[in-house]
Amino acid sequence: MGHVAALIVAAGSGDRLPGNTPKQLRLIAGRPMVAWSVERMASAGISSIVVVATPGHEDETRAAVGGATVVAGGDTRQVSVWNGLGALPAGASHVLVHDAARPCVSRELIDRVVAALSNCAAVVPSVPVVDTLVREANGRVEAIVDRNHVAGVQTPQGFSVALLRRAHEAARRREFVSSDDGSLVLAIGEPVATVPGERNNIKVTFTEDLRVAEAILNDDN
Ligand code: CTP
Ligand code: MG
Repeated sequence: MGHVAALIVAAGSGDRLPGNTPKQLRLIAGRPMVAWSVERMASAGISSIVVVATPGHEDETRAAVGGATVVAGGDTRQVSVWNGLGALPAGASHVLVHDAARPCVSRELIDRVVAALSNCAAVVPSVPVVDTLVREANGRVEAIVDRNHVAGVQTPQGFSVALLRRAHEAARRREFVSSDDGSLVLAIGEPVATVPGERNNIKVTFTEDLRVAEAILNDDN
């Protein structure tokens, strides 16, 4: 394994979590949300960390993340990742792309993704889906989706930097947009491996999720 960097996307507006502060800067268990992911990456030995911030919130983000490099994001998560890729240190061979909205990521999960990168150039954590999944239209169930063939996908997602750049360049050329980096790699026909994700690695999306994440963070520390 060469040099592994982290790219933490924290440039969203958090529309589903109303409040004056963008969600990744909201205090959770005593710290701005984004600070938790930065700390977990650092504790896993990741020394190069790029954080992508909401334009206009760069200074607050910088104050929250200590020594990490901060760059401005774009209108979509995909553009934010692209901007972050431009700020990676030249020596980085691999990158872990992580959502600031997942502050409960564990050291073990980070290690698991990094370890899997020695066998595959693209790795995503997945978790079984517990709810029954259906296809729905106009208030009616149209079909049941076979749960054995679907999974929930989380971050951190690990990639060879060259592969992820190639995937993003291809997506930009084809105007393909996805909220998930693994999907961009799959779209250029390259394999994407899974490793077990974690139930605690929730994405804070709605107001109710803040309480759950806070409980997990307080438990861990
Ligand atoms: N993100 C980003 N740039 C964007 C949109 C999202 O960096 N233009 C980041 C968010 O900050 C978050 C992660 O991508 O850490 C996952 O996105 P999501 O949970 O959807 O966050 P938001 O887009 O901020 O929330 P919402 O969709 O409710 O507006
Ligand atoms: Mg979003």
